[in-house]
Amino acid sequence: MNHNNLILLFSVIFFLSCTSLETNELDSSFTISQNNSISKRVDSIFELMTLKEKIGQLNQYSVGEEMTGPNQNNDYSKQRYNQLINGSVGSVLNLLGAENTRLVQQQVIENSRLKIPLIFAYDVIHGYKTMFPIPLAESCSWDLKLMEKTAKTSAAEAAASGIQWTFAPMIDVSRDARWGRVMEGAGEDPYLGAQVAAARIKGFQGESLSDSLSIAACAKHFAAYGFVESGKDYNTVNIGQNTLMNVVMPPFKMAAKNNVATFMNAFNDIDGIPATANIFLLKEILREQWNYQGVVVSDWGSIGEMVNHRYSKDLKQAAHQAIIAGCDIDMESQAYIKHLNDLVVQYPIIENEINKAVKRILTLKFKLGLFDDPYCYSSETREKKLVGSPAHLDLALEAALKSIVLLKNENQLLPLKKDQKIALIGPLANDSDAPLGNWRAHASSNSAINLLDGMRTVFESNITFAKGCELSIGNNNFFEELKINNSDYSGFKQAVDLASKSEIVVMALGEPAYMSGEGRSRSNIDLPGLQLELLKEVYKVNKNIVLILMNGRPLTIPWEYKNIPAIVEAWHCGSRSGDAIAQILIGDYNPSGKLTMSFPRNVGQVPIYYNKKTTGRPSSGPNQVFYVHHSDVDNDPLFPFGYGLSYTQFQYSEMKISSNEIHMKDTLKVKIKVQNIGDFPGEEIVQLYITDEFASITPPEIELKGFQKISLAVGETKQLEFNITKEDLSFYNKQNIFIAEPGNFKVGVGTNSRVLDVMAFNLVQ
Ligand code: BGC
Repeated sequence: MNHNNLILLFSVIFFLSCTSLETNELDSSFTISQNNSISKRVDSIFELMTLKEKIGQLNQYSVGEEMTGPNQNNDYSKQRYNQLINGSVGSVLNLLGAENTRLVQQQVIENSRLKIPLIFAYDVIHGYKTMFPIPLAESCSWDLKLMEKTAKTSAAEAAASGIQWTFAPMIDVSRDARWGRVMEGAGEDPYLGAQVAAARIKGFQGESLSDSLSIAACAKHFAAYGFVESGKDYNTVNIGQNTLMNVVMPPFKMAAKNNVATFMNAFNDIDGIPATANIFLLKEILREQWNYQGVVVSDWGSIGEMVNHRYSKDLKQAAHQAIIAGCDIDMESQAYIKHLNDLVVQYPIIENEINKAVKRILTLKFKLGLFDDPYCYSSETREKKLVGSPAHLDLALEAALKSIVLLKNENQLLPLKKDQKIALIGPLANDSDAPLGNWRAHASSNSAINLLDGMRTVFESNITFAKGCELSIGNNNFFEELKINNSDYSGFKQAVDLASKSEIVVMALGEPAYMSGEGRSRSNIDLPGLQLELLKEVYKVNKNIVLILMNGRPLTIPWEYKNIPAIVEAWHCGSRSGDAIAQILIGDYNPSGKLTMSFPRNVGQVPIYYNKKTTGRPSSGPNQVFYVHHSDVDNDPLFPFGYGLSYTQFQYSEMKISSNEIHMKDTLKVKIKVQNIGDFPGEEIVQLYITDEFASITPPEIELKGFQKISLAVGETKQLEFNITKEDLSFYNKQNIFIAEPGNFKVGVGTNSRVLDVMAFNLVQ
């Protein structure tokens, strides 16, 4: 070691020891002084860094367990290992486990010159080991506290396994059920999407990122990924500024406001510019308008993919375009590590962008506490205690119960009675894998409680079971295209015989886990394979059918809706799916979920959403030719946004508003009474919508601006109060300014977006 290195080493040790002292002393609520202190610590290490080391912090790749030892046995692993220990990697994804993460961190700390710890990242989307309902399902609970809690629990499990950063929440608004990734989001509404984003971010990040049970969150995918053409994943996006700003942006704006630690670029282009190098998105909106200080990461290979978009002539130009736009971390393209050095020689100004990115990344590492103790997340003791713990599984049950939506219940077929003779039929009835959903992180395959087991525990009578048909053939995993069974009817006879001898048939149909999620777009969103045929055969012998749907997106179910008396949307509901559904079937829990995505009548209606524009030719009924409509299907969806039934009924009455006229600074108070007039205690999600009668850009017909979830005993009445402020009446106008315009408004309160009590008021200057 030469003299200079020695001095450097001492200064790093000195710097590290000072920094731990500072943190302990400043462990108070004074965020500003904390930030100042972090920024000093960042500067002191930043000063020591070479350009190569700075670029290393911007490089992220995926590693597996081959990295946990120095004996890599192939060139690829060797190369990655060398990059890791020579300071050429700032963060990695997909390495799990307290022991593994500690070993790799140790290699970095012991071998790299500046000992800058790695961040370990992972897609913890709806759980780590314990699986909660897929996010689309969970959003149907409209229970923000619950969503915060499941995110917090997922964070605790992941953090105990050495993870400090999740690529979640996915907050892409989408109106297209063909797009497989709708399962990861909170549905079609920007207002609800923003509330859910805030709740999940709070859950993941906790009070402080330095808490070793919280992890950094990531608002993704910025932006408009949910608007890919024809619902095809990765496809082109054409979206106008009005929809971009007023529909896509609210959850992202909320994420920035709630200090989400990171943002992730989207794969798509928007109006010709890939999101990864989109200066309008990343600089004008994110950094300038929203003053966002956190880290921006590319999506997997999305810098390199700009060459495929034919926006960059080669990887080097892609690196240039991305760094200039403000994409801090290159996930898996190797564009930065290969080309930024040369680019700085060619265009010295780029170094400023690199410096800003490095400082943001170092700041995150300080906030996570990694400079104080690079191993603080990797705790085998915590890992053993927390990961998949019974308390977490109990929370998974609560979340599943609240996520399930009752779609139809003719003649109160539900709840079922314990002594009824029940046949359970369908390919998903004894499937312990599908309920885990697509992004199941570290969950063991086949680890969910399936419906058959759930029903056998809950019902005293003997549940008989026949599968009826297989849903898919062969391998069913994340990496392969699914093969659906379209020809093997051999199980039909047994199922039909069983149905004919039973009082009630419960049919479990839907999609396998890997039919929704990334890369799983569909052009037809009916029940796949032979399932509808099976249902029709069973229906011929027994009409008392309860259809349980398990799926990752809204499906088209017109025949089912017309003919089947009871339908329950159970989604992919996580580790405790089976017992949650069973408890709802027997009435131990009264279903309370409401849809956060409209269900189309047929796929031709897609994209379909409640907050649509009136257009110049609003249709007011059937048999009108020259109005906005399809000639072969109604304009309405099968089930609208906000729809969901209960075993009880709720009556709305005595709606009042505090004034017919408010000023910009005023708050309008809206009151309404809700009474449980049925026979079961239950929960109701009361929704408030606004209509702007006239505006400088064409406004949506109605927009959700508030909701409350209440519990009511039989006969009980509650009076609810909502506040409407100027913010709720504001939108981004043509000049991209967020304003409220004076004029006439309506406010509607009710049980879903189509059934509302409505009153009018004026907004004046
Ligand atoms: C997905 C991201 C994900 C990343 C890392 C990409 O393919 O689009 O949402 O976070 O992979 O796994």
